[in-house]
Amino acid sequence: MKKKILITGGAGFIGSHVVRLFVNNYPNYEIVNLDKLTYAGNLANLADVEDKPNYRFIKGDIVDAAFIQELFETEQFDGVIHLAAESHVDRSIANPTEFVFTNVIGTVNLLNAAKHIWKDNREGKRFYHISTDEVYGSLGKEGFFTEETGYDPHSPYSASKASSDHFVRAYNDTFGLPTVISNCSNNYGSFQFPEKLIPLFINNIRNNKALPVYGKGENVRDWLWVVDHARAIDVIFHKGELGETYNIGGFNEWTNIDLIKVICKKMDKKLGREAGTSEKLITYVKDRAGHDLRYAIDATKIKNELGWEPSLQFEEGIEKTIDWYLANEEWMNNVTSGDYLKYYEAQYQER
Ligand code: NAD
Ligand code: DAU
Repeated sequence: MKKKILITGGAGFIGSHVVRLFVNNYPNYEIVNLDKLTYAGNLANLADVEDKPNYRFIKGDIVDAAFIQELFETEQFDGVIHLAAESHVDRSIANPTEFVFTNVIGTVNLLNAAKHIWKDNREGKRFYHISTDEVYGSLGKEGFFTEETGYDPHSPYSASKASSDHFVRAYNDTFGLPTVISNCSNNYGSFQFPEKLIPLFINNIRNNKALPVYGKGENVRDWLWVVDHARAIDVIFHKGELGETYNIGGFNEWTNIDLIKVICKKMDKKLGREAGTSEKLITYVKDRAGHDLRYAIDATKIKNELGWEPSLQFEEGIEKTIDWYLANEEWMNNVTSGDYLKYYEAQYQER
């Protein structure tokens, strides 16, 4: 079936994997990637699909309501997969307002535009909002986040994502907008901006720079290979029930310090350095403000109802990921030059 699908934030980390999967797997779909190209958006992430006949890129800002309204009226999308966001917790602590604009107002602008163009016919239409497990807050040593867990966000980032989730549900409840939401755990893989733990540490090890571990490194995250997240998004977009929420996770919990030691060991081998060299770069620094202790997703619902499971074990995924960053030095050097350097200096200056 022919469909025109808008993917927002398609030049970012997860968005580029989603665009790639949809462009390659659905030649009948017209995929439109709308991205503002902030520091996190990079068209080099999509070099392998940019010439495909079913792919188009539009540069634009979801915060610009008039532009979004006009875009939807002109393009008459059948579906929206909304990933565009400010996504980094530390940046949300430094500048919360930007997160309100993009994550809350940007999402509401998209909801309004979809509501408007689908007002007479909602058959086959779908607004899919991509969210995070951080909206559920923090777990103690036991338990998992399920779809029924109450929202309890702690950072400006997670508060803005929680707010956007509430707006999506409100548009479903109030206006009957055909929506679906998923909340995913930490992703890792190729094309992730090196402000996030895994690519930052791989790059710092490569350059013999300190590895700034927040607090004692005891915080726990549940890591999922980004391609498996994109596969889950495909399944939910096509088979998820409207009005529902699906949790996506890797059943793969690591304390930060254990994960970092795995990366250090593998990097020593790959770089031909003496065992223990990279671990010496570990530097404990001031903890992140409001740092959530533990995230862990119960992904039973998506497994039982939609048949999705992670395809890759972590051991293989992290190996592939390290290899990718080592083989793509030019990509890394491009994104770590310029403005990124200023961010890095400011973020880590007093630690
Ligand atoms: P990212 O920061 O790598 O990419 C975000 C993209 O959105 C960039 O291409 C950026 O240019 C674009 N963008 C930002 N502001 C925009 C605006 N105003 N208008 C248009 N485009 C704009 O983020 P990511 O890690 O790929 O995350 C994508 C989505 O998935 C986000 O909604 C995030 O909350 C969610 N998520 C991320 C993770 C993770 O581990 N990274 C896990 C769960 C959910
Ligand atoms: O859980 C899903 C979320 O995962 C997504 O919604 C976010 O967009 C994404 O950024 C990610 O959030 P985290 O804050 O968990 O990811 P980050 O890579 O920033 O940090 C992972 C852990 O590592 C966290 O406990 C903080 C710690 N950390 C991070 C950095 C950047 C350090 O110890 N040192 C660092 O320099």
